[in-house]
Amino acid sequence: MHHFQYKNNELYCETVRVADVARAVGTPLYLYSRRTLRRHFRAFDGAFDGVRHLTCFSVKSNPNLAVLNLFAREGGGMDIVSGGELYRALRAGVDPGKIVFSGVGKGAQDMADALAAGILMFNVESVQELRKLNDIAGAAGKTAPVALRVNPDVDPGTHPYISTGLRENKFGIDIREAMEHYAAAAGMDHLRVAGVSCHIGSQLTEVSPFVAALRKVKDLVRRLEERGIPVEYLDLGGGLGITYDRETPPHPKAYAEAIAGEMGGSGPTLILEPGRVIAGNAGILVTEVLYTKVSNDKTFVIVDAGMNDLMRPSLYNSYHAIEPVRKSRRGTVVADVVGPICESGDFFAKARELYAFEPGDLAAIMSAGAYGFSMASNYNSRPRACEVMVDGDRFEVIRERETREDLVRGERIPGFPAD
Ligand SMILES: Cc1ncc(COP(=O)(O)O)c(C=O)c1O
Repeated sequence: MHHFQYKNNELYCETVRVADVARAVGTPLYLYSRRTLRRHFRAFDGAFDGVRHLTCFSVKSNPNLAVLNLFAREGGGMDIVSGGELYRALRAGVDPGKIVFSGVGKGAQDMADALAAGILMFNVESVQELRKLNDIAGAAGKTAPVALRVNPDVDPGTHPYISTGLRENKFGIDIREAMEHYAAAAGMDHLRVAGVSCHIGSQLTEVSPFVAALRKVKDLVRRLEERGIPVEYLDLGGGLGITYDRETPPHPKAYAEAIAGEMGGSGPTLILEPGRVIAGNAGILVTEVLYTKVSNDKTFVIVDAGMNDLMRPSLYNSYHAIEPVRKSRRGTVVADVVGPICESGDFFAKARELYAFEPGDLAAIMSAGAYGFSMASNYNSRPRACEVMVDGDRFEVIRERETREDLVRGERIPGFPAD
């Protein structure tokens, strides 16, 4: 359930007319519903009420300070993958003791900063990373709490680019080799084994791959404890899918019931790293139709947002519903919706039956709250869009639209002698 609904053929975000926000701040713009974000966080976190757990929102899915601050106030932790995300989380007021640091290529400075901040746990992905973290912790006179991210070799049945838990993927440590890596970690002076982690992929629409992964991880936890290596945290990652089109992913309650059933009421504290399921349907990208054209019997709707603003369709061929901000009786047309960027991959829909948009109309690209703005770039020297948050009948800009000056910030024309 989300708070983007039509009233009298006008799209509203909560009780604010989307068209009013677009008029005030221009397009393209990202628009988030605060009540939807909060509702989704509570639905997810509350589903695990019967289990000792910590919900660590996946910062990469939507890193805006306003979004992170909302979840911090709800008692949430964060899953970060870089020093930049650590900085954001701390700036947003997140308790460092609720931050887990994932990622296959953590840099030394990022590790040192996270250690200094006092994060909950590093999810380490290789033996070299263990050694580096041990050295950094030693130099800082600290002990780093670690989990090993294991790769359980479970097929999540999702797009290959967002599948991470197969043996062929770059992520994690093969679960069959985990015992020796844990033995190595336990023998390092400046590390403390705190947990086990895994993340098998994103946009999963079935519970069974999570359960299969959890069973393998539980077996590893049992073997570790037999070896005298206690496991305080079991981090199951993120990955629960959402409805973009006709998918029917499990409700967080069904997901939580399956996981809690496997956990059996005792054992390690569960850590969850949801991103998309909380933020995905809490945001839209609003864009203006610039032109329409018919070429070789194909109709194109050219909008002022591009793949630099929302790259999921270009990257994963993913589906986003495209709705008119104001509906009229115009009927539908089969069209491609494309952006202004000089790439054939710059599209939001292909050969899709859509509202018959005309120049000047506003279109809402739905389900854009996760991996939307966070993946935006300046490609084609386009300033990034602004982000706006609605709460009830009020809205606030939570990230200003970039300016042309922002585009060249930090660039220099060198003073080399003339040729
Ligand atoms: C380690 C890790 N945790 C959590 C997530 C969040 O996944 P999702 O947004 O599908 O919940 C990701 C996404 O790639 C991830 O790599």
